[in-house]
Formats: sequence, C-alpha cells, structure tokens
Amino acid sequence: MIVIQPEIVTFERVAELDLMIFGELIASTQKVDKILSVQHLLLVAREGDQTVGFKLGYADDRPGHFHSWLGGVIPKYQRQGIATELLKKQEEWARTKGFRTIGFNTFAEFPAIQAMGDKNGYRLVRTTNSLMGQKLWFEKLL
Ligand SMILES: CC(C)(COP(=O)(O)OP(=O)(O)OC[C@H]1O[C@@H](n2cnc3c(N)ncnc32)[C@H](O)[C@@H]1OP(=O)(O)O)[C@@H](O)C(=O)NCCC(=O)NCCS
Repeated sequence: MIVIQPEIVTFERVAELDLMIFGELIASTQKVDKILSVQHLLLVAREGDQTVGFKLGYADDRPGHFHSWLGGVIPKYQRQGIATELLKKQEEWARTKGFRTIGFNTFAEFPAIQAMGDKNGYRLVRTTNSLMGQKLWFEKLL
C-alpha cells in the first residue's frame, strides 16, 4: 500500500530525493535555506520502507501563490496515480493554508508532467527563456 506523508525538509533529504528521481542534484543549500524561510510542504510517497515519490513546494514571492517546485515518482511505480495523489494532497494543503493559486514550471521535453497538469486543471500562463531552454509556466486557481 502506498502511503503519502509530510516530511521535514533538510538539504540531505532533498538531495537524496533529487538523486532518486532525477539522477542528479537539483537543490542547493541556498535553495533549501530559502524554502525553509517560507511556508513549504514536502510530501513523500512510500511503500513500506521504500520511498517511491515526492513533491516539494513553497510559498512564492507573489502573495497567495504556492510554487510546486520539484517532484517525481520512480519508474517502477509510475502510471499508478501516485503523482496525481501527491498533487491533490499538495493542493489540499495549500488551499487550507489560504493560498489562492498554485503552479509549476517545466520544459517542453517533459510532456508527462504537462499532461498531468492539463488533466488536473492547470493552464499555461506564460513562457520564459532560461539557460536550459524555454520554460513553460502552468497555474490553477485553488
Ligand atoms: C511525471 C511523473 C511525475 C508522473 O508520475 P506518475 O505517478 O506516473 O503519474 P500518474 O500515474 O499520477 O499519471 C497522471 C497522468 O499524467 C500523465 N502521464 C504520466 N506519465 C506519463 C507518460 N509517461 N507519458 C504521457 N503522459 C503521462 C497521464 O495523463 C497520466 O494519466 P493516465 O495514467 O490516466 O493517462 C513521473 O513520470 C516522473 O517522475 N517522471 C520523471 C521526473 C519528471 O519528469 N518530473 C517533472 C519534471 S518538471
């Protein structure tokens, strides 16, 4: 059975989750310090002792907006609705905390996350250019 629970954010834990999902370190100590300085939520999905997925988000500089920053599910557990469940629990929490909008950004080469966003009511609100290519920003009203 898959269980989803909040966890305390530490750089070490976020680094572990990054490596598990992306095979590389995405977070920096500065980024984690910034996350810790604002309202944030780390949700972790587990089966028994095994971590199978996560979602980490934090209050944006824009008041009332929650930024869903990073997340994923390990390949063996994909297509079972786990990312959707993480997303729903994150939305519920953000709504309870009084956030009015929620969003994430991604790149064209990640169609799965866009499809999931689309299915759950997220709409493309802008595109920006970054060193890694064109960034797509998705948002929804809570
Ligand atoms: C994207 C990701 C989080 C989806 O996790 P998941 O637990 O498999 O997602 P779900 O089972 O909840 O799927 C929800 C919907 O997302 C879409 N989706 C998920 N995986 C997909 C894929 N490989 N291709 C196309 N659409 C996909 C589908 O619309 C799916 O609904 P369906 O299964 O009813 O068709 C997961 O594939 C992942 O971690 N990928 C690697 C990391 C990544 O890309 N992170 C985002 C970077 S911005």
